[in-house]
Amino acid sequence: MATMESLIGLVNRIQRACTVLGDYGGDDNAFSSLWEALPSVAVVGGQSSGKSSVLESIVGRDFLPRGSGIVTRRPLVLQLNKTEDGSQEYAEFLHLPKQRFTDFSVVRKEIQDETDRITGKTKQISPVPIHLSIYSPYVVNLTLIDLPGLTKVAVEGQPESIVQDIEAMVHSYVEKPNCIILAISPANQDIATSDAIRHCREVDPTGERTFGVLTKLDLMDKGTNALDVLEGSSYRLQHPWVGIVNRSQADINKNVDMIVARRKEREYFATSPDYGHLANKMGSEYLAKLLSKSLESVIRARIPSITSTINKSIDELESELDHLGRPIGVDAGVSSLFLSQSIPC
Ligand code: GDP
Ligand code: NA
Ligand code: MG
Repeated sequence: MATMESLIGLVNRIQRACTVLGDYGGDDNAFSSLWEALPSVAVVGGQSSGKSSVLESIVGRDFLPRGSGIVTRRPLVLQLNKTEDGSQEYAEFLHLPKQRFTDFSVVRKEIQDETDRITGKTKQISPVPIHLSIYSPYVVNLTLIDLPGLTKVAVEGQPESIVQDIEAMVHSYVEKPNCIILAISPANQDIATSDAIRHCREVDPTGERTFGVLTKLDLMDKGTNALDVLEGSSYRLQHPWVGIVNRSQADINKNVDMIVARRKEREYFATSPDYGHLANKMGSEYLAKLLSKSLESVIRARIPSITSTINKSIDELESELDHLGRPIGVDAGVSSLFLSQSIPC
């Protein structure tokens, strides 16, 4: 019987195989139905609400472009793969096969460059995703998707349609019933105006796959706190809200590293007069564990449908592979990929 960790690992490998085969959803074929059967976690929220910062701290590495304004302009599909203790951490892009990145600041630069290759150095967006895999002993097995922020108006250099374009792009990821949604809202704005909540209410009205994340707790006005949100009295979700303190822009400018940032975040909650009693259910590390657990239960619930989709797809995938002439990296064949690990049913 496969452990849950190896099962999520297997799901990651299937996702990668589907991606290598050149399809990431959209067309109705064997690959896309398989892709859609597999769970992932996507971030939704307004521009500069802290989406990229939250993803980075879940991963525990600095590698995403962040900042004010529209920084994330293409979806980033990020696969975290837990490797053996002591092994070296590296990243790989789908568009640069066989190139291992060990310097995460170079990863960030490549995300920026690869974004610009499609959109130019503009404020335009593109729905074409960038695929990045991280192999590390320090991560949990997860597929995370960073998305451009929801906006209300087009700015100089953007087409008028950008508001709807971003909405549609975000929607295409989070509408899938197996997508876990991280709904990011900044604590220094009224929750009633949250783009994340507005959007998630549409795609997940019961809130069963939505995790509410409240960022920027450190930026609230003195004398106010977010207990009404964090304790669920102002907007109730099925899962409890998680409060977060990410690095500020000043921290980013000063290159405050992740370890220091996490320590500061822990201290913030541990010593907070308002949130001290919630400290063990707050912060980025807690959120990462919570997500991994939730992804496990989504996978468990979906094992029967994943298995039947795989069984239906294997023949089609195999014949498609023959047709394509078996690309490097998957030349062992799709069926051996599946058969090498038993799937508990
Ligand atoms: P995104 O546009 O939603 O991806 O947001 P980013 O992660 O790029 O963050 C936007 C800006 O907000 C950056 O300057 C971050 O440093 C800042 N920021 C994000 N989260 C926090 C937080 O919890 N506290 C503080 N002080 N600043 C934050
Ligand atoms: Na931003
Ligand atoms: Mg971003």
